Formats: sequence, structure tokens, C-alpha cells
Amino acid sequence: QAKRVSAPDIRARKGGQPIVALTSYSFTTARLVDSHADMILVGDSLAMVEHGLDSTLGATLEMMILHGKAVVRGSARALVVVDMPFGSYEAGVEEAFRNAARIMAETGCSAVKLEGGERMAETVAFLSARGIPVVGHVGLTPQAVMSFGGFRTQGRERADWERIERDAAAVAEAGAFAVVLEGVVEPLAEKITEAVAVPTIGIGASAACDGQILVLEDMLGLSPRVPRFVKRFGNLGETADAAIAAYAEAVRQRSFPGEENVYQPKPTNRA
Ligand code: KIV
Ligand code: NA
Repeated sequence: QAKRVSAPDIRARKGGQPIVALTSYSFTTARLVDSHADMILVGDSLAMVEHGLDSTLGATLEMMILHGKAVVRGSARALVVVDMPFGSYEAGVEEAFRNAARIMAETGCSAVKLEGGERMAETVAFLSARGIPVVGHVGLTPQAVMSFGGFRTQGRERADWERIERDAAAVAEAGAFAVVLEGVVEPLAEKITEAVAVPTIGIGASAACDGQILVLEDMLGLSPRVPRFVKRFGNLGETADAAIAAYAEAVRQRSFPGEENVYQPKPTNRA
């Protein structure tokens, strides 16, 4: 069995071959992603994608741990990072450590990710110094959707650049081994990627980043609406719809199950 990618391995990829990352919330999708990705994120986007909630605010520690365990079981090579859910790390460094340690111990993942720049630097340092590799997340941070007043691209106004640059620098300097840059304009992503010593992993943040991440369901074509930054590399929604329609038709026609799908008693016992 091949050795798993480690946090230092990802850290060492700065400025090198782009880091390939995708989300996964399940055993089956983790097996698919593990063959190709360097890093798998059990994102709190599962609250929306997997549980149908309106935002990521409803993701709980229990949800993250349950899905995290399944993804760790379904993968062998990629680094598994689990998102810290809203409310599990903001109040203080000790509570953040306890919850991050629970996620690590109960899932067997290799790192956690938390949202926020300067205001979370102390927490990133506290966890990193105590054996918990941390991925930072700055720019458009979905857990702050209510404060932003919607999912808004960050850095369209030049006046906002400095704050976002400081956020990225703060978490990198605090010990994060990589930083997710979400929903920021291209020249800002470029500037931050040049400035910070650790890899930037972009989502809606241009090809200037040291790596890319997308929500798996979005890039597979399973999500009904996707933002501009998503490219659909497949059309699994249509493929699945056609397969389910064919099954429904076959059941109604009694053409399924066919001979080959049916069990029979031993010949001597036949009626
Ligand atoms: O929750 C998530 O899926 C994420 C990313 C896509 C970066 O945080
Ligand atoms: Na997330």
C-alpha cells in the first residue's frame, strides 16, 4: 500500500507541480477521487450538497466526523483534510484544539481546515504547534455568508486587497501548511500566491494559484446550478437520470429482473 501524501509533502509543492484537490463526503466518491488527487477535502459544503441546507452554517461536528470517517476509509493515498464546522473553533484556541483533536482522532484524517485570516492566526498557530496540521481559508469564506450579505467575489475593489493579503499572510505565517483562496479576483490571487511561502489552493481564484479545488458534485455535473468558476468536466446528472429512467421503465415492463438476475434452486429440487 502506497504511503499517504502528508502535510509537509503538500507544503513542499509551493511553486511546483500544481496541487490537485477535490471534495468528497463518502466512501464511494473518496475511492474515485483518491486515484487522481493529492488532497481530499471533507468540506462543510456537505451541509448544502449532501444535506440540502441553505448554507454551510448548519454543518455540525458530528456530521463532519461521520463523513470524515467514510472518506478516510475510502482513500489510501491522498491527504484527507476535514473542515472545522461553524461554531467549533471561533470562540477560543482551547475549544478549537479540543474539537480539532476530536476530528483527527475519530476520523483518522491528517489535517483540518478553518476559515478566517488575521482573526484566526492565533488559533492556526495554537493547533499547528500541537500536532494538528492546518489549512487556512481566506477570501470568500462561506461561513461568513451572513456578514458578507451573500456569496460575493472578493477583491473587486482595489481597496479590499490589502485586508485579504494580510489575511493570507497571517495564516501562512501562523503555520498553516496551505491556504485555500476562494472567490477572489485573478490579480489578487496572483499577488497573494507570490507573497506567501505556502501553497495557495484556489477555488474561483484563477490558475495563478499553486493548486485547485472544486466541489466534486459541481465538476461532475451533478449540481443543478453552478457558479462561473466551476467547469463541468462530466455530465453525471444526465447519465444518472437516464439510468434511473431506464430502471423505472424496466420494472414497470417486468423486463427487470431478467433471467441473469434471478436465483434458482439446485436442479434436483426443481418443482
Ligand atoms: O467546503 C468546501 O467544499 C470548501 C471548499 C470547496 C474549499 O471549503
Ligand atoms: Na468549507
